[in-house]
Amino acid sequence: MDKMFANVFRSPGKFGIEEVDRPHPGVGEAVIRVTMTTICGTDLHIVRGEYPVKPGLVIGHEPVGVIEEIGPGLSGYQVGDRVLIGAITPCGQCRACLSGHLSQCGHTAGYEAIGGWRFGNTINGAQAQYLRVPYAQANLARIPDELTDEQVVLLADIASTGISGAESGEIKIGDSVVVFALGPIGLCATVGARLEGASLIIGIDSDENRLAMASRLGADVVLDYRYLDVIAEVKRLTGGGADVAIEALGTQQTFENCLRCLRPGGILSSLGVYSGKLQLPYDALAAGIGDYRIVTTLCPGGKERMRRLMEMVKHGRIDLTPLLTHVFPLGRIQEAYNVFGERLDGVIKVAIKP
Ligand SMILES: NC(=O)c1ccc[n+]([C@@H]2O[C@H](COP(=O)([O-])OP(=O)(O)OC[C@H]3O[C@@H](n4cnc5c(N)ncnc54)[C@H](O)[C@@H]3O)[C@@H](O)[C@H]2O)c1
Ligand SMILES: [Zn+2]
Ligand SMILES: [Zn+2]
Repeated sequence: MDKMFANVFRSPGKFGIEEVDRPHPGVGEAVIRVTMTTICGTDLHIVRGEYPVKPGLVIGHEPVGVIEEIGPGLSGYQVGDRVLIGAITPCGQCRACLSGHLSQCGHTAGYEAIGGWRFGNTINGAQAQYLRVPYAQANLARIPDELTDEQVVLLADIASTGISGAESGEIKIGDSVVVFALGPIGLCATVGARLEGASLIIGIDSDENRLAMASRLGADVVLDYRYLDVIAEVKRLTGGGADVAIEALGTQQTFENCLRCLRPGGILSSLGVYSGKLQLPYDALAAGIGDYRIVTTLCPGGKERMRRLMEMVKHGRIDLTPLLTHVFPLGRIQEAYNVFGERLDGVIKVAIKP
């Protein structure tokens, strides 16, 4: 069996580069040679043991690469094509997919919660030299020649997710929007809010670097929650409460703050991954009769989503390259995890080059 190098999860706190079998495609599959990938906040949850995956799994779910091998039954692609693949790889054929809920893909049957997230979760992922892509016909998005790997790598997950927070929040032209937490996801939600036509975007975090980046990407006001009552300030700035609040951290506190910042009838669009119990205080919800709407979204995937996002880059509507602050070769991925995980050196996202 031919071999490759990949980042393998062994147990909480134990992971690193190993030599493993190189994948080959089955029916409807393709194998790509990965040319760039990155590390997601969710990978941090995995290596810390906060999100369980099976030992021996190659992790990572944000692949850019070149088609190396094409399995039987795949048409319209050639070896050598440059492709971007979403973090979420829907089958495109199940009830969920055909009803438009691609991220909750039911694996050829009905629905399965989070079922569309396969890479680095239920099958081997992208922090590797080669990656086997399931349901390749629905998931390989050809990269326009004029776009570099750096310009598209963040579209696979954080941009698709962050922007979906604004879409699911149904932001209308003129809406006021508050974004709680300005990690990569919240920063992309800020970009999304601007694209959707928000008149006022308020970003909240404590990290100066990220507050500055939010301003650069479209936030009109940034607030450091350590130094002021952000709920009162959002209410003051919006004349009584924001139309839409986007949660981009996954804690009780930020979720609750989002609710308390909303005007009655406002929409809370939640992107964070929560653990434990999430509670809805009755007073923040106007006793349950304040006409609030709460929506949650898992990163949209599939090749059409990737094509649309790449068109946005190609035509200059979005540019996420300022978020790629560091580059590491695959062989130094543990160092990259440390820099990213400990938020050293002003890091926002790291590019990994196999
Ligand atoms: N819905 C999805 O499909 C999806 C996809 C990817 C990641 N996620 C989740 O999104 C969340 C954010 O991911 P990320 O990579 O941007 O996170 P991150 O850890 O890089 O950033 C979190 C930010 O939150 C800030 N913060 C901490 N406490 C805060 C508070 N009380 N108020 C405001 N800001 C605060 C930090 O300073 C930091 O900048 C995570 O839960 C992640 O698992 C969801
Ligand atoms: Zn992710
Ligand atoms: Zn499906």
